[in-house]
Amino acid sequence: MSMGMRRAWTGLCEFFQVGTWPWFDANDAMDDLMPWGRGSLAQRQQPQGGGKKPDMPEDPSSSSRNLPFYHQPVLLQEVLDALLPAPGKLIFDGTLGGGGHTEALLQHGADIVAMDQDDEALAYARARLASYGSRFCALKGNFRNFASVLSEAGVGGLDGMLIDIGVSSRHLDAAERGFSFAKDGPLDMRMDMMSPLTAADIVNTWQQEDIERILRENAEEQNARRIARAICQDRVRKPFTSTLQLAEMIARVCPKHGKKHPATLTFQALRCEVNAELPALREFLAQAPRWLKPGARLVVITFHSIEDRIVKHAFQNYAAPFIDRPEWPAQKLNPNHCLKLITKKPLEASETELQANPRARSARLRAAERLPA
Ligand SMILES: C[S@@+](CC[C@H](N)C(=O)[O-])C[C@H]1O[C@@H](n2cnc3c(N)ncnc32)[C@H](O)[C@@H]1O
Repeated sequence: MSMGMRRAWTGLCEFFQVGTWPWFDANDAMDDLMPWGRGSLAQRQQPQGGGKKPDMPEDPSSSSRNLPFYHQPVLLQEVLDALLPAPGKLIFDGTLGGGGHTEALLQHGADIVAMDQDDEALAYARARLASYGSRFCALKGNFRNFASVLSEAGVGGLDGMLIDIGVSSRHLDAAERGFSFAKDGPLDMRMDMMSPLTAADIVNTWQQEDIERILRENAEEQNARRIARAICQDRVRKPFTSTLQLAEMIARVCPKHGKKHPATLTFQALRCEVNAELPALREFLAQAPRWLKPGARLVVITFHSIEDRIVKHAFQNYAAPFIDRPEWPAQKLNPNHCLKLITKKPLEASETELQANPRARSARLRAAERLPA
């Protein structure tokens, strides 16, 4: 790590410890959110372990051994191949989740500054990765705001950036978070429990046209009108409070075709809206390339075609040397040209990975590299 980068990193870690941001005051509360063990900031900053090297566990693969299952990272080898982690590199992970990708990057020697908007994910990953000491720093926040968070903390350029968007397995498995149509829970779906809008607010209070619009825009649901109408008719008799109540109503009005549950796309659309997932992705992509040092890589993993299309178009826009319009007499230099595509087509999980982790089946990875200045 260069002196400048080391200074920025130390600043970030000190900033983190001083706790001037509101979410740092909630550190103890966050430990309480984590029913599986405590991973306080003090532990993270001062790893235990006698003569052991402080920031590299003896057996790094064992760090989550005493923690319950949270999430299986997808396309892990592909992420490593794309980001090329190594000692001295500083990589941003905007979707820390259970810390699986971050841990693999740490094991390859990179330092990580990570973000997640979910307190439970932060608490879990901090506990899991405590033994990496000051090489790992986890911040609460939405990756759409990463630029202001990192610049406030004194971080300049990055050697790599990763976002692996959407929900974690923990979100789907925890009925009380309300993400799954297969488990009964409150109609919530917030990743950040401090944000004001829940899925219940949308289905119980929004106009039919607005519900129909988000079903189309966020999930390309063919039955958008029929489902929106049924939601608005049913809620007069009884407001929607639970995931199964909504899923069963949709199954009644849209009989099942094929393997997919008829509520799959409605749940996707509501989750996207509650967490403003598409605007967050667009805002991240608008700023990310500026943060990459020359030769540094940007990796985005998506889970449905709408997200992948947004990433594809953004990458194409940054990778085109020239732009052209029918009304222009000649093509012009593209002022946004700053990336080279590493993946012409998105990478997908191998058969072996799918066997081990069927939830990887919709994952698509795109990567690009910052051109020299
Ligand atoms: C698919 S999981 C990431 C899993 C992680 N890569 C791992 O290996 O465990 C997505 C995570 O990103 C978080 N997330 C999603 N959108 C986010 C956003 N806009 N800002 C910050 N975190 C976000 C979710 O809370 C969730 O924990």
